[in-house]
Amino acid sequence: MQIKSYLKNLSPYPPGKTIDEIKRELNISEKICKLNSNENPLGPSPKVIEVLKNSLSQIHYYPEASYWKLRETLAKMWNVLPEQIILGNGSNEIIDFIFKTLVEPDDEIIISKPSFLMYEKFAQIYGAKIKAIALTEELTHNLDEILKNISEKTKIIFLDHPHNPSGSIIERKSWEKFLEKVPSHILIVIDEAYGDFIENPSIPLGIEFLKRGYKILVLRTFSKAWGLAGLRLGYGITFLELSKILDLVRQPFNINILAYKAGLAVLEDKEYIEKSINIVKEGRKYLTEALTDLGFKVYPSQANFIMVDFGERAEIFYKELFKRGILVRPLKAYGFPNALRISIGLPEENKLLVENLKDLLNISP
Ligand SMILES: Cc1ncc(COP(=O)(O)O)c(C=O)c1O
Repeated sequence: MQIKSYLKNLSPYPPGKTIDEIKRELNISEKICKLNSNENPLGPSPKVIEVLKNSLSQIHYYPEASYWKLRETLAKMWNVLPEQIILGNGSNEIIDFIFKTLVEPDDEIIISKPSFLMYEKFAQIYGAKIKAIALTEELTHNLDEILKNISEKTKIIFLDHPHNPSGSIIERKSWEKFLEKVPSHILIVIDEAYGDFIENPSIPLGIEFLKRGYKILVLRTFSKAWGLAGLRLGYGITFLELSKILDLVRQPFNINILAYKAGLAVLEDKEYIEKSINIVKEGRKYLTEALTDLGFKVYPSQANFIMVDFGERAEIFYKELFKRGILVRPLKAYGFPNALRISIGLPEENKLLVENLKDLLNISP
């Protein structure tokens, strides 16, 4: 058996630990404060729970293959055609479809270094060359450098916006200048996993540029603001020529029947989504101010997490918080050994984190 040569350097994705894993490791049964995977701290929408309970008796059926109602509802929300919506088992799966459809070995893809790790992972799986462009000093995508690195072999540019793990965003002027210069043979993937948490109304969303005719695919997920991470549901919005082929690449029934029903239910729960977004905006402000007051560098974020530079003490803080049942994400794998990424939690969880950090202030690395 010969494994493809370009799969030899594949490394595992470093996932955030689950509550069960943490309880096992710590041998505790108390409540865990889970601030490591940017999930929705409110739990699922009550409407989703109700629908799921009522749907359990139908799980012996396949779902409807076209997922028409969900695509139609999303299409109305974004004012596009249902055929422009492609559903994935998490937005991760759409990234897979994009590679399957467009990328041949030796094609180049451009990403920022660091950014969401799955772009690089899929590039490795499909044997594509990766051009990884360092972020600017403010930890934003370096669009000028990205432009300089475009070649005839470039197939796709991935931009997570807001950026993971910094939470940074791109101003309208920079977007406009950039998009004008990207050749039209290149697909630009604007990954808005955290797009719901952007507070500044002057920051444009990818859908606007798609409608203006740029070769864009917008990625959206139900995993964050919509509280369905465990059910795996995401989608892409793109131009018809691409969405049609992505839909053909997709295996039938890639969305399970419960995820499909839950997606429809949460889209109707306006109260829940508003609450989810507000809790993040308020918590983000509170944590940014409180941790800055404690003397740490907090990067400005428009996502449901903040990246904080703790200097040499990042690792010890991570370990000490972990022992106390507060879980945050170390950013060593992203190239920031001195930083931790903290998901915005419920107000009491955010407060607990601050209290514990205050308590740890005098600890040595
Ligand atoms: C930037 C970014 N894109 C996509 C995803 C994946 O989302 P999903 O759960 O929809 O696969 C994540 C998850 O953390 C993310 O940070």
